[in-house]
Order: sequence, then C-alpha cells, then structure tokens
Amino acid sequence: MQMKLGLVGFPIKHSLSPWIHNQFLQKAGIEGTYSIMEINPDNSFELGLKRIKESQVDGYNVTVPYKKQIINYLDDLDKNAELIGAVNTVVCKNGKWVGYNTDGIGYVIALRNKFPEIFRDKTNRILIIGAGGAAYGIYYGLKSEGFTRIDIANRTRSSAKAIAIIGDNDVETSLLTLGEAQEFINSYNLIIQTTSVGMKPNTEETIIPVELLKRNSIVSDIIYQPLNTRFLRDAREAGASIHYGHTMLLYQAQYAFQLWTNKKIPIDEMDQQLKTILEGR
Ligand code: ATR
Repeated sequence: MQMKLGLVGFPIKHSLSPWIHNQFLQKAGIEGTYSIMEINPDNSFELGLKRIKESQVDGYNVTVPYKKQIINYLDDLDKNAELIGAVNTVVCKNGKWVGYNTDGIGYVIALRNKFPEIFRDKTNRILIIGAGGAAYGIYYGLKSEGFTRIDIANRTRSSAKAIAIIGDNDVETSLLTLGEAQEFINSYNLIIQTTSVGMKPNTEETIIPVELLKRNSIVSDIIYQPLNTRFLRDAREAGASIHYGHTMLLYQAQYAFQLWTNKKIPIDEMDQQLKTILEGR
C-alpha cells in the first residue's frame, strides 16, 4: 500500500518539506508520496480538512497559518503540543487524528548534533530572542533538557511572559527588552534568534546588534532564507560559533517522519544538499 503524506498550510508552493520527506520515503524503502495540500484562507479550512480526511492520508505536517487552528479538528493531542499550543505534525490512524509538535525537539536535536558541549553544563545561560510560535517550542524543548536558566527577549513583553509560564516553573526566566538583550548579550553562552526579522527579502535587517557578545558563544538563527542572515554574519564577525536555521527544518522533519513510520532516517548528506539548495535560491 502506498503511504500518503503531505503538508497543510498557505502559501506552501515553495516549501522544502516535499524534498525532505520524499527523500526519507525513498531512503526508508517505503512506497508513497508527500505532497502539498494547500488550503487557501479565503476558502473553508474545515472543508479543506474534510477532503484530506476523505483521501485517507497517513499523516501530514501543518504550517502557517494553521498550527493553532488545527487543534480544534484533532481527536487527540500530545502533551508537548498541548503545552506549546501548536501542532506541526498530525498522525492519522484508524480514522483518528493525533497532533504533535516536533519543532522544538527538532531544534534541540539539531543543536545537540552540532554543539554537544552546550548540553554538558545545564547552567549555560541561554537567550531566546522572539516569542512567536517557534520560540514556544524551542523554550519548551530546552527546558525539557534541564537547562536551568532560559531568558527571553521580545519587542512585546506580554508574549514573552506567556511563554515563560508554560509547564511547571522549574526554570528561571527573565524577560528582557530588545535593548537589554543587546546590552547584556555577553552574559549568554547560547543565543537563539527566532523572529522573522532578517528574512528574505529584508536581508539587511537584524533584530539587535551583537558586537558585545562573548567570543566563544553559540549563535543560532532559525531563519533559513537566507541561510547566512545578517544576524549570523555579524555574530560570526564578533567571534561566535554559528548554527544555521536549515538544521531545525531537517530534524523536525526527521522526528515527524519517525512518528508516521517508526523509522528514523539519518540526515547525513541531506544537510549539505539542503544548504546548497538554499544558497542557490
Ligand atoms: P509566529 O511564529 O507565531 O508566526 P510571528 O508573528 O511571525 O509569530 O512573530 C515571531 C516573532 O517575531 C515575535 O516575537 C515578534 O515580536 P512581537 O511579539 O513583538 O510581535 C517578532 N517580530 C516580528 N517582526 C518584528 C520586528 N519588526 N521587530 C521586532 N520583533 C519582530
């Protein structure tokens, strides 16, 4: 039987997920397809989902603008996704739809692969810049790893505050303004940029200047278009080690595929291949 997987969102015509998952299917030796299942927000979301259900998919990813909205249409929700309040992966089994969130864990696995040393000392200081959907998953993922201090800097304080109260409060979190983040950036061992600032076409924008950061800190940007954001370029110039955004995309996909098939496909050369695709865009 052919496995039927796909992506729900809008606009998603240029998404890299079909490239990733069709390779996973091939590597796993599973016959099937991962396709785009675009639902235009001008049309009914409910009707779009009904059609998907009728087509008997085995699972699908969910992306903007539906990561929260999809929750209303699921039969069950994983605890992680419930805490984060967003779903990016749905597993369909025996007519039941169960929602998961693999974004945060994808980020954590990607980080661990590249910089295992940061996980050896859970008192390493972490700063997350931004408080949108991605920041939620990453905060929760790092918190689950046992890091004791994760600060959040955001333009709007109330959104940062909403993140800091998810789950049990066993991590210390200070809320910073963007100005404070710039001023105190040298206090952090790991800085994660999760806002949309600097994304194509606004590639010369950056959320905060980083001249003051510690030379041996690790700096992540979850934007992958462009791969070399201004934020990362500035950070590298200031002496930091750089962690590119496309790795989160690969590892959240790896984990989603595992939920659908029970198979964990090694990322190996796909990391470099995806980098080359993105650099050519
Ligand atoms: P989501 O990831 O849930 O779709 P988003 O609306 O894309 O969220 O925003 C992601 C983050 O980018 C938010 O932290 C947002 O800051 P606010 O909470 O203050 O809106 C941040 N962001 C987007 N544009 C920004 C800008 N020009 N300056 C500063 N922060 C910005």
